[in-house]
Amino acid sequence: MFMNFRRIHKRQCVHLLITAMVLCVLTVCWEELDLHVVSHMRSYSYRYLINRYDFLNIISSSGSVVSRSVTYPCLINHPSKCRAENGKDWDDVLLLLFVKSSPENFKRRQAIRETWGNESFVWSELGVSVRLLFVMGVYSGVAQRFRLQQALQQEDKTYEDLIQQDFINTFHNLTTKLIMQFHWSYMYCSQARFLMTADDDIFVHMPNLVRYLQHLLVSQPGTKNLWVGHVHKGAPPVRWKGSKYFVPYDLYPWPSYPDYTAGAGYVVSGNVAAKIYHATLVLNSSLYIDDVFMGMCAKVMGVFPMQHVYFSGEGKAPYHPCIYDHMITSHGHSTDVRSLWRAAIDFPASNSSRGFLGNLYCTAIRVMLLCRPYYQNTYSCTAAFT
Ligand SMILES: *[C@@H]1O[C@H](CO)[C@@H](O)[C@H](O)[C@H]1NC(C)=O
Ligand SMILES: *[C@@H]1O[C@H](CO)[C@@H](O)[C@H](O)[C@H]1NC(C)=O
Ligand SMILES: *[C@@H]1O[C@H](CO)[C@@H](O)[C@H](O)[C@H]1NC(C)=O
Ligand SMILES: *[C@@H]1O[C@H](CO)[C@@H](O)[C@H](O)[C@H]1NC(C)=O
Repeated sequence: MFMNFRRIHKRQCVHLLITAMVLCVLTVCWEELDLHVVSHMRSYSYRYLINRYDFLNIISSSGSVVSRSVTYPCLINHPSKCRAENGKDWDDVLLLLFVKSSPENFKRRQAIRETWGNESFVWSELGVSVRLLFVMGVYSGVAQRFRLQQALQQEDKTYEDLIQQDFINTFHNLTTKLIMQFHWSYMYCSQARFLMTADDDIFVHMPNLVRYLQHLLVSQPGTKNLWVGHVHKGAPPVRWKGSKYFVPYDLYPWPSYPDYTAGAGYVVSGNVAAKIYHATLVLNSSLYIDDVFMGMCAKVMGVFPMQHVYFSGEGKAPYHPCIYDHMITSHGHSTDVRSLWRAAIDFPASNSSRGFLGNLYCTAIRVMLLCRPYYQNTYSCTAAFT
């Protein structure tokens, strides 16, 4: 009897202990669990079971009355950037390249001009016409603003590749910057086959990108409805106040965003650029996360993003020739753009992976580099086998 009691007692104790531990873990990790498991499960079920994006109807029907987006005056502009040498005809631009920059990021812009954003290099080496423009607002610090603005004017005199509007250049004004890009392209460069928007700390393997776009044009002439990049599927809004990406319920009450591509760098075809322009005229642009806003615009226009395994999103690519062969974008390069460019250019694509053995070797290397547990955010493991 005594023994029995003790046994039961012990079992209960164990139960109690386990329950307490589970509760402890739940309370301690709830934020993480909620963010990474519950939210994603909710948004996935929302997307695939309920799957109704009626919120877009609400937004667009209430928005069709007035134009929702404020447009700010241009401070620096180059309306004839996309014209031919004679200044009259439109040039046959393959890619209009917008780099989202900030007034103070002179060094980053300079690195891009000398490397992957060098229009004359692309023209002489790859034989296609690319236009590069840095997009920005005005410097947020009032005290430094005047001095920086003068430096910008000077910089623009030399390179003629800045466009600037009179809004404060902040994270929460990124959607304004996005709208600025699509309005600019609609007004001054609507003939461009493709439009890319990129951060000023990414690396773009221009030869690979140009090859990819040319291949698209050949395989499906007049490429339409293209929107390609690193796709976020069914991402839930961040409801944690401390986050940079925090979005309150009254701004976006629904449990998941429409699919969108990471804002670090993506490409759309000319017709999609025009569609997005039209969407920006009717949508409420108060959602300040620019790539999500782009997703909403695209959803309204019936455009869907396409995943490309070598657009990195927020991730930084591993350094290796077997990666350079395929990479399109890589994020987080503010200081090593020049060395990466030299390395990437010195290994012309398909050189190191030539032949059966070369291929095998590179696949093995890529598996080692990309298929590691906890190695997230850059190219996915499937990229190793392309
Ligand atoms: C761009 O490339 C051309 C040709 O390759 C080169 O002459 C020029 O110096 C480069 N421009 C910059 C800013 O580095
Ligand atoms: C965005 O720019 C506008 C115009 O300069 C400014 O009034 C507003 O405060 C800025 N918004 C944020 C969140 O910085
Ligand atoms: C846009 O949405 C925000 C938040 O939902 C709202 O406060 C604002 O009034 C709306 N703007 C317009 C022009 O309808
Ligand atoms: C790449 O291939 C070319 C010949 O097609 C060769 O001359 C060059 O040395 C190769 N480069 C590397 C880095 O293997």
